[in-house]
Amino acid sequence: MNVLYLGDVVGPSGMRALTTSLPSLRQQYSLDFVAVNGENATRGFGLRPDDMHRLFHCGVDLISSGNHIWQREELRSSFSENIPLLRPANYPSGAPGRGHYLLSSAKGMLAIVNLQGRERMGMAVDCPFQTAEELIRQIRHQTQCILVDFHAEDVREKEALFALLDGQVSGVLGTHTHVQTVDARVLSGGTAVMTDLGMCGPIKSVIGTKPELSLRRSLTQLPLQMEVSENPAMLCGALLEIDPDTGHALSITRFCQMPGEENL
Ligand SMILES: [Fe+2]
Repeated sequence: MNVLYLGDVVGPSGMRALTTSLPSLRQQYSLDFVAVNGENATRGFGLRPDDMHRLFHCGVDLISSGNHIWQREELRSSFSENIPLLRPANYPSGAPGRGHYLLSSAKGMLAIVNLQGRERMGMAVDCPFQTAEELIRQIRHQTQCILVDFHAEDVREKEALFALLDGQVSGVLGTHTHVQTVDARVLSGGTAVMTDLGMCGPIKSVIGTKPELSLRRSLTQLPLQMEVSENPAMLCGALLEIDPDTGHALSITRFCQMPGEENL
């Protein structure tokens, strides 16, 4: 089972890079599933329903998210439909939406679970560790193939979740920081991990925003509103191969495509 999981899609250039490249990537890597974190897709903040549909239309099977998912009020009603759009599972029970979804293909079923960290995120969500254990116990009755998108800031918290879930899921993939890490590996229990997938967004930017504004904010400490950069975008994420019978990850490879490389 071949899966491409892409990190946070950021703004119009990220959307453009993804929608133009994904159809050929699906063929090139014989992908069974493609998932992306889409919480920054609409101008860097949130996800509008039209951008959600564009992502599904270009070949994305599932959109996960995180702390910015509530930014666009018009998206909230989309959660009531039976569509593969996730918000973190550890939001309080009154929040709209769902935190996991089961996808199916000829190779079998793949469950995707979305969680949000609590360290340095400024939000009082439920414990991601307890939520993960409980949810995964239920999901394993349906499939052994499970990927977790852990949308979190803190590296220690991310690695702690790797330790908890090794052997219980196929992979735990970090999102949120927009900076790709080089620690992709399969742990002894058969779980693939990577601290952060990076972003599908503008290279010449400060985590996707205009560098001059971000720098001015740092220099002056004024609460300046960040604006998304429209510079050409890279695509970042990970390619995973999962054994559909055991749910173990056979491999994880860091994926990074720079602008222009899509035609190589
Ligand atoms: Fe985020």
